[in-house]
Amino acid sequence: MEKIYLIGFMGSGKTTIGRVLAEKLGWQFVDIDDVIEKRKGMSINEIFNNFGEEYFRELENEVLLNFIPFQKVVISVGGGLPVYFNNMELMLETGFTVYLDVSENVLLNRLKNNWESEKRPLVNRNSEESLINLLRDRKKVYEKAHEIIKCNSQTPSQIADQIIKSFLVWKKYH
Ligand code: S3P
Repeated sequence: MEKIYLIGFMGSGKTTIGRVLAEKLGWQFVDIDDVIEKRKGMSINEIFNNFGEEYFRELENEVLLNFIPFQKVVISVGGGLPVYFNNMELMLETGFTVYLDVSENVLLNRLKNNWESEKRPLVNRNSEESLINLLRDRKKVYEKAHEIIKCNSQTPSQIADQIIKSFLVWKKYH
């Protein structure tokens, strides 16, 4: 199986690290949120506002399923995707799944700057306290990943190197 999924909370660097990782491997990079926005011709914020979160979760699942047959691809998924449907199990069964673990403080600081607000309706709708609660709940699912990488003080390139190392070990057995 030559596929790597990157999971983690909003602001954990999945897209940035995913691009670097794909480049180092010579693989394709896919960001599920980008695919959804292009397919619908609107931002994630607009999809939430016009059709609701449930509809967005269905789109995420559909797009994930589309990419299952792909090989040599790094896939970055939205922070909520692993906790809906059987998405987490699907990823675990079809690729190497990596949780980018960033501390609560670092995440909150990044999200507070209203960073990428068109992509993150949940940041506008939730207080800091409920974002932390959401993260703590989701962590239980994220931690089922094949590999957990602490990302607080490493550069994207160092993190990508670490992912490649553990992927090569995992690949021997899969
Ligand atoms: C979400 C995270 C976002 C995006 C959507 C919902 C979530 O992706 O999918 O706003 O539920 O955590 P990022 O994790 O890439 O910000």
